[in-house]
Amino acid sequence: MSKPKLRIGMVGYGFMGRTHSNAFLTAPRFFDLPRQPELTAICARNRDRAEAFASNWGYGSVETDWRALVARDDIDLIDIAAPNNMHLEIAVAAAKAGKMVMCEKPLGRNSAESQQMVEAVEKAGVPNMVWYNYRRIPAVTLAKALIDDGQLGRIFHYRAKFLQDWTIASDLPQGGEGLWRLDKDVAGSGVTGDLLAHCIDTAMWLNGGIDTVTAMTETFIKEREHTLTGKVEPVGIDDACAFLARFSNGSLATFESTRYARGHKAQYTLEINGEHASISWDLHDLHRLEYFDHRDQGTTRGWKSIHVTDGDHPYMDKWWVPGLSIGYDESFTHQAADFIMGLDGTAAAPTFADALKTDMVTDAVLKSAQTGQWETAH
Ligand SMILES: NC(=O)c1ccc[n+]([C@@H]2O[C@H](COP(=O)([O-])OP(=O)(O)OC[C@H]3O[C@@H](n4cnc5c(N)ncnc54)[C@H](O)[C@@H]3O)[C@@H](O)[C@H]2O)c1
Repeated sequence: MSKPKLRIGMVGYGFMGRTHSNAFLTAPRFFDLPRQPELTAICARNRDRAEAFASNWGYGSVETDWRALVARDDIDLIDIAAPNNMHLEIAVAAAKAGKMVMCEKPLGRNSAESQQMVEAVEKAGVPNMVWYNYRRIPAVTLAKALIDDGQLGRIFHYRAKFLQDWTIASDLPQGGEGLWRLDKDVAGSGVTGDLLAHCIDTAMWLNGGIDTVTAMTETFIKEREHTLTGKVEPVGIDDACAFLARFSNGSLATFESTRYARGHKAQYTLEINGEHASISWDLHDLHRLEYFDHRDQGTTRGWKSIHVTDGDHPYMDKWWVPGLSIGYDESFTHQAADFIMGLDGTAAAPTFADALKTDMVTDAVLKSAQTGQWETAH
């Protein structure tokens, strides 16, 4: 018997439009899903490019106005893979139209926007999820299992970094295609909402809520030409951000992100130190989890590098054979699969309500960078 379809309308065919399309195509081939995802329509403003994308990925149709996409009655799920300034309007309209909504991170440009999105999906009672994909890299999911199992014991420290180096050139413009992340009106913030939001989502998932933060930010290049106006304009985003945090469980944290760390392309690292054990993970070596357990026999005690590719590791029984690794794109495949499996009412996380909590932390971080004070993060 054929499965009921899950008809997807995707907004945006950029970086994330590609990862999500790939995820929905791949997920049903590796996971036994209750519904069959169908790439029903792709929406972007440029029809020629949208048609080329549709043809490459197998979308059934093209829309150039997201409102037309949301109005269609042959779409079950609106998936928002457009820049941050588009999230609020599309998500609220989609929820009002009774569609399920998946949205890229950060949920809103700030927590006030995210709050409206949470209210819209909760009022409409529609399934919703935010694409914080790093939770579903098997090594990170294994870290969660070890922590929840109490293997680390009481947690004292959480340390995260997300380092890039692509905006160092002072003649790099801001705004427009590919460079909207440098335009505060579109992005909401710089590395705080773009990169630290990932670190905060993972951190709160692994280690619970964050109570207070104190932060510093810097904008190293103060003015850049705006591609849309052709004028040199002030840069409003944070190029770099570092903050200290106190978790509700009493542990202390440091977070750092920058786009000015020469040599680092997308180095997301995290380390957690507990009473019995420590774990550490690096996106550049994403299938490994480093683990130190003080309870190991003394003479052979030391850091071990777990190759998270065995059949009893999270998600890995769905893939190849033990020892063979998967990569970045599969984190999206896992998320698409978990979302569809969660339609039975179990609602896979992170929901919009979960992602709102992350945006409350990023708001507090940006506020603290202005006030110089510790700020409440919830
Ligand atoms: N989960 C992750 O790791 C991750 C990684 C990258 C980006 N993101 C998030 O994904 C979102 C998109 O980022 P990206 O890197 O894919 O950007 P991108 O610039 O590569 O693509 C954005 C797409 O949105 C489309 N778009 C813009 N305005 C539109 C409109 N009015 N109507 C329809 N389509 C429109 C553009 O044409 C483009 O196809 C952002 O919110 C970003 O923060 C998340």
